[in-house]
Amino acid sequence: MLMLGIETSCDETGVALVQANAPTPQLLAHALHSQIAAHVPYGGVVPELASRDHIRRLVPLTQQVLAQAGVAPAEVGAVAVTAGPGLAGALLVGTGFATGLAQAWGVPLMAVHHLEGHLLSPFIGQPALTFPFLALLVSGGHTQLMAVHGVGRYELLGQTLDDAAGEAFDKSAKLLGLPYPGGPALAKMAQQGNARAFDLPRPLLQQPNLDFSFAGLKTAVATRRRAMGDQPPAQALADLAASTQAAIVDVLMQKSRRALQQTQLPTMVVAGGVGANAALREALNAMALEQKVSIHYPDLAWCTDNGAMIAWAAAMRWQAGLANLGPARGLPVQPRWSLAGAESA
Ligand code: KG4
Ligand code: ZN
Repeated sequence: MLMLGIETSCDETGVALVQANAPTPQLLAHALHSQIAAHVPYGGVVPELASRDHIRRLVPLTQQVLAQAGVAPAEVGAVAVTAGPGLAGALLVGTGFATGLAQAWGVPLMAVHHLEGHLLSPFIGQPALTFPFLALLVSGGHTQLMAVHGVGRYELLGQTLDDAAGEAFDKSAKLLGLPYPGGPALAKMAQQGNARAFDLPRPLLQQPNLDFSFAGLKTAVATRRRAMGDQPPAQALADLAASTQAAIVDVLMQKSRRALQQTQLPTMVVAGGVGANAALREALNAMALEQKVSIHYPDLAWCTDNGAMIAWAAAMRWQAGLANLGPARGLPVQPRWSLAGAESA
């Protein structure tokens, strides 16, 4: 069963082809176009520009993936596409294109939850990973801790009450004068700084739950930045970047530790764009060692949005008998969609 996966929920156009037959899925080819350069002048993603660019990229990327894999359209068994959550217009482009392909090729269409793609991405090329595990999902739009019991069996343990971890990186980076996307830029600047220079808040850390809150951090960063005046020394900015990163990492690490202690899960996986952050990986690795759990990350290529994770999640659902392969009739997109409801996709 060959699955074509399509991702257009935000600012990356991703297409991939996965062989879904047992024992483990196999990634045959993938292609990605990142729109970052198009959005940089605006300091963030412009939804209409994102939609238009997805339209331009989907056909060539799909042709490229089929050619790379040496697969003819007639051999593709199903088309899987991100149906949410994400930007409504961007999702509509992907689902519209996927519907057209599935109709033209006479194959079923499958809706995939974007966060399920992230959640299962550590399995790509890592056949040793097994359920159950604790998942820390940290992206530009979401921050969640989940107990993952199997494909489609996701128990939400805690999540952010306001900004996502990636948003905290992005907004703080903007306050420091760094370009979009702020996460990697802030991480780079932080390398030159002293993480103990500023004592920034660690919201909800003292509360026993597994929820997060990052909106207050952004305000604290804004206040510290303003206090530096118009021409702050580069070192002061780097110190603030390092302290900001340390505050985000500290909260993510400590809540993850609490979740491991509460659930007694033997394994942890980290998924989503912020999972690419080196300081976060270092802190989580040390914590996992101390808690005697094994920790897994997707390859860096699968941390940020991509088509491979969508095709892979589709393949794992299909293997688990949860594929919901519907006729290619067009899909409702779900810009807001809870992962706990992904089974009904
Ligand atoms: O998963 P993703 O590609 O898109 C969403 O589904 O949101 O995550 C994007 C987020 C952005 O907020 C970006 O700044 C952040 O991940 N990010 C990072 C790093 N690389 C990406 N944050 C911190 N450090 C990084 N190295
Ligand atoms: Zn994502």
